Amino acid sequence: MATSQPAAFPDGFLWGASTAAHQVEGNNVGSDFWQAENDGSWGLPDRSGDACDSLHRWPEDLDIAHDLGLNAYRFSIEWARVVPAPGHPSPAMLDHYRRMIEGCGQRGLTPVVTLHHFTSPAWLRAAGGWTSEKAIAHFTEYVRAVLPILDGVPWVCTINEPNMLALMAARRKHGHDGSAPSFVPPDPDVSLALTRAHEEARELLASVPGLRSGWTVANQNVQDHGAGPDRTAEMSYLLDDQYIDVAKGDDFLGVQAYSRLRTGEQGVIAPGPADRRTMMGWEYYPRALEDALRHTAARLGGSTPLLVTENGIATSDDDERIAYTNEAVLGLARALADGIDVRGYLHWSLLDNYEWGSWEPTFGLVAVDRTTFRRTVKPSARWFGRLAKSPAATLRQGAAS
Ligand code: FCB
Repeated sequence: MATSQPAAFPDGFLWGASTAAHQVEGNNVGSDFWQAENDGSWGLPDRSGDACDSLHRWPEDLDIAHDLGLNAYRFSIEWARVVPAPGHPSPAMLDHYRRMIEGCGQRGLTPVVTLHHFTSPAWLRAAGGWTSEKAIAHFTEYVRAVLPILDGVPWVCTINEPNMLALMAARRKHGHDGSAPSFVPPDPDVSLALTRAHEEARELLASVPGLRSGWTVANQNVQDHGAGPDRTAEMSYLLDDQYIDVAKGDDFLGVQAYSRLRTGEQGVIAPGPADRRTMMGWEYYPRALEDALRHTAARLGGSTPLLVTENGIATSDDDERIAYTNEAVLGLARALADGIDVRGYLHWSLLDNYEWGSWEPTFGLVAVDRTTFRRTVKPSARWFGRLAKSPAATLRQGAAS
């Protein structure tokens, strides 16, 4: 859709980039994901290994974000590092993440901190994972441990994409031989545990002055392409909406959108050869962000501010990254013009990183050499920096949808 309206972004709008600990830090040896990468139990083709070595190179990552002209950086604290054994939080690791938070402040970057981004400690997995008896108590112990370092952090995401976590748990039950049906609903027990964990965390986080807490939902943009409105609404509820509903009364909701999911008579219509696809095999659909923002705002009745905590594209063509992002942000501008309360846009991702089992898809604004860890800023990163500084002048209006 073409628009001739100049893009108006409110003062203080956050322009940043996102990462997650396991995907960039490297050697996250105490986590369940590391364990599964190495014991083969989840059928993951690649190991995370040293990842981007951001555990040591985070100052360089923050420098890059700052030098590009961004004003925000989203990263996650790793539960498996902070609590390497239940009941024994690590002061040294807490200090590490405290220095990262301070490092953001020193560079004029607003920290957006995620407490749980897919990975849990391996010891929790051994005890039965999220549905085990003490999981919520363990999570709240972790949140209590990090509370002191969150002083001055304005945005905290409790749990990243609970819907994908519960979906991954459900899919694992089907094995890795590709025989799972095209539509698998998220595991209801895992969902319930995550919801309770989020609510407990929210209560604890409310004690930190100025801190806003919320969780982030992967908006799959479930659209009716033949399944009918009732079935489509049901699938949308199971995949997305039940998690959006939890955010009513939260300080914000993180919106994450990449593509859409079309429902047909047989379940989900997978993108085929006729569809333009990204390196993830997802349909190229830059309107995803606008659809997700409008859907989420309607669902929440406008009561909860939204923050785009992820949006981006896995592509080896950096011009395509610019085109996709340009179009997504134009959609965001239209949503803002219609009064939807969006506080910022955080691009996924700052770095080419470990995409949960594979090194192939490249989402980064910045390339990372996997041996020297040298960072190379891509043209899309410079374009995004210009966008952050002067959105109206940088957005190319009327890009084709
Ligand atoms: C989201 C995850 C993020 C990244 C992107 C591509 O589901 O939150 O870590 O993998 O997808």
